Amino acid sequence: MYFYLALLVSAAVCWAGFRLVELLKLRGFARAHGCEPARRMPQSERIVGLGLFLDDVAAAREHRTLQTAQRRFRELGNTFSGVCMGQHFLTTVDSDNVRALLSTRMEDFNSGKKSLFGPFIGDSMLTSDGAVWRHSRALVRPHLARDRVADLGKLEGHMQNFFSRLPLDGTTVDLHHLFAQLTFDNTMGLLLNENVCSLLSRPGSRLAQVVEAFESVGGFVNKRAALGPLLRIYRDTEFEAKCKVLHDFVDEIVRKAYNNRGSRQFGSEEKDRGFLASILDDTVDLVKIRFEILGLLLAGRDTAADLMGNLFFVLARRPDVWEKLKKEVDDVLQGRKPTYDSLRELTYHRYAIEEALRLYPPAPVLFRAANRNTVLPRGGGADGRSPVVVPRGTIVSCSTFALHRRHDVYGIDADEFRPERWEAMEKLRTRPRWEFLPFSAGPRVCMGQTYAMAEMAYIVARMAQEFDAIQSRTGAPWLEKWSITLSSAAGTRVGLVPRQK
Ligand code: HEM
Repeated sequence: MYFYLALLVSAAVCWAGFRLVELLKLRGFARAHGCEPARRMPQSERIVGLGLFLDDVAAAREHRTLQTAQRRFRELGNTFSGVCMGQHFLTTVDSDNVRALLSTRMEDFNSGKKSLFGPFIGDSMLTSDGAVWRHSRALVRPHLARDRVADLGKLEGHMQNFFSRLPLDGTTVDLHHLFAQLTFDNTMGLLLNENVCSLLSRPGSRLAQVVEAFESVGGFVNKRAALGPLLRIYRDTEFEAKCKVLHDFVDEIVRKAYNNRGSRQFGSEEKDRGFLASILDDTVDLVKIRFEILGLLLAGRDTAADLMGNLFFVLARRPDVWEKLKKEVDDVLQGRKPTYDSLRELTYHRYAIEEALRLYPPAPVLFRAANRNTVLPRGGGADGRSPVVVPRGTIVSCSTFALHRRHDVYGIDADEFRPERWEAMEKLRTRPRWEFLPFSAGPRVCMGQTYAMAEMAYIVARMAQEFDAIQSRTGAPWLEKWSITLSSAAGTRVGLVPRQK
């Protein structure tokens, strides 16, 4: 008995000694870099941070997590720290800090996503770091290069399926759900050369279940995010079951390609062969391939679908913007289908999409985990201008939702949807750089940015060619649904008035 007690006490003393040495090292490191403490969130207790956790749960229930964070920045300044469920965090909308986080000091941070996504995407590009991550990027790059993504012919095929699902008699339809199917089918074609038509699938069919599983994993990942360090001991069988639906679906496609890999059916040019064929040249680790594919599907599907859902939520309330979009599409395309090059002439379309990306960034919070003690350039001291120390293990986040609504950057009408602001900012050469980050920035910048912008402009242009008016079918204001990406909690319920042809 005494032996065990002595063992316990020695372990506690060792741990305390180790922590003390760490703390002293950190102090020396902070002094050497001229750091001052960051502003702290007012918290009654900063060991577990239970109060903040409960506040955040209440905000999430009311669909106001992002608005709550935005309010905190307005009250506390651009950078502050806190503790939530034992996890220390530093959060910032200071562009100097964001640049250091995503670019100049990027090596000091990990993606911080591996445990969050857990069994869903394992070691994919989104969750890995260092050499493994660089290798994944190199494999994907040729398949999202301009010459590969410029062919929008397949997208038109999926658009036709999409149109076939839209009621033309004014019946209410939730566009968001259909956008998710459209972008799923399109991303499958782009990355895997698979002709998948979830838009035409029957309810309850395997494909419908796959899309449903994709839609539900976001909620589980969010739940995991709230658990902090407790995540290490947490298991969720329902989440695992959804992951299995997705794994089985992708595994089948991978296995088929693996069995056919000698038959040269993919063509010989790298860009024509598809991502799946070229990754099979690189590795025969089929589980690794599964995770890479799921990571890409996640990155490419939900983001674009959510942005379209949010944009059309606004357009249904803004007939003035819809009229301008119709006029531009008629003037420029004169009834022709858009091409990659003609889309570039649709400048007002780009402004409207950028305005939606600003107000409703599909990835509303960018975050990283410090893999060593490091420093961010601002946020310390009473005036927030001194550097701040970031201890190893701290989660550093940037709410792009709040960053994109900063009054000092976008003006006092920052919360309003006004596409014209982009025209004005371009004329005045004041287009923001590190204050507009819907696709992130730095070496980990979104790989699908060029394609996503073309895909979204294509969808808006085709809708403007087909529909005279989009009518909102809910008077309720926009409320967030933030799972992995950001969508409208009430969906995008609209009525459509077709154009007279
Ligand atoms: C509106 C559409 C999109 C938005 C707003 C968006 C946004 C983002 C953001 C913010 C990140 C960085 C996440 C982070 O740093 O934590 C990212 C990463 C990524 N995105 Fe996108 N994305 C979009 C569409 C796409 C599409 C269509 C694809 C491909 C088909 C794609 C592929 C990727 C990949 C591969 C990464 C991982 C980059 C890395 O970790 O190195 N994205 N995206």
